[in-house]
Amino acid sequence: MMIQAFKKWLIGYKDEKQTDESRQRIEKLQKGRLPRHVAIIMDGNGRWAQKRGLPRVAGHRQGMITIRHITRAADDLGIEALTLYSFSTENWKRPEDEVNYLMSLPEEFLRTDLDELVERNIQVRMLGRGEDLPKHTLEAINKFREATKNNTGLILSFAMNYGARSEIVRASKQIIEDVESGKLDKDSLDESLFGKYLYTVDLPEPDLLIRTSGEVRISNFMLWQLAYSELWFTDVQWPDFTRERFYQAIEDFQYRSRRYGAV
Ligand code: IPE
Ligand code: IPE
Ligand code: MG
Repeated sequence: MMIQAFKKWLIGYKDEKQTDESRQRIEKLQKGRLPRHVAIIMDGNGRWAQKRGLPRVAGHRQGMITIRHITRAADDLGIEALTLYSFSTENWKRPEDEVNYLMSLPEEFLRTDLDELVERNIQVRMLGRGEDLPKHTLEAINKFREATKNNTGLILSFAMNYGARSEIVRASKQIIEDVESGKLDKDSLDESLFGKYLYTVDLPEPDLLIRTSGEVRISNFMLWQLAYSELWFTDVQWPDFTRERFYQAIEDFQYRSRRYGAV
């Protein structure tokens, strides 16, 4: 315990205490219909930093702390899956320094947060083209996977080098291979089976998609899986996003009427 506390102090780990208010909010939300899977497009790190005269990477660093808080919030609420869009297949277009910094964050997060994730019984996954990531980034992700693979609580997925179009093309290629090799009968292919070829394999489709920072677009995220998700947008930038706002999104979700094309 002492060692844990010392380690947390050493890495500047701030405990964000659960207040009575948030506990009451959780209880109230739990009485309603909870989303099984929440996906988030974490946007606005760069602008958050620029507004403060800081380099963009400072925003990414602060954004990592928000990841910690929102993961706790989702876990405390008891939702099944949280998926965070962390790096898109288009984000390679950014300056090299920024890309390098983003690629170092999984190692940083491993150092600072693995213990708590294990303690919380959270299972960490990655969605995306792992093969194109730098070796050190992939190694950190694999360490997360390995250390949490038997955990049965919240499934926390990082969409890293993820692009929905690339995911769909990859799935299509695998399907063609399986048909050609006789493993799959073309006539048995339906929507549900197609979904099994995507990175999200066994995850339920997101019930709720949150995007921060005022942009109202999907930016190549989960094009297949979001077909019937409820969308929720806020002008708040990701580093300023809080547990309270996350719970606000869930409360709003509880008032939505989902019809799936019926009346
Ligand atoms: C989101 O913040 C994080 C990533 C895309 C990696 P941005 O870096 O896109 O921040 P803005 O949109 O430029 O403010
Ligand atoms: C989407 O944000 C990607 C991630 C959050 C990782 P972007 O900032 O890259 O999206 P655009 O460029 O505004 O569409
Ligand atoms: Mg952005």
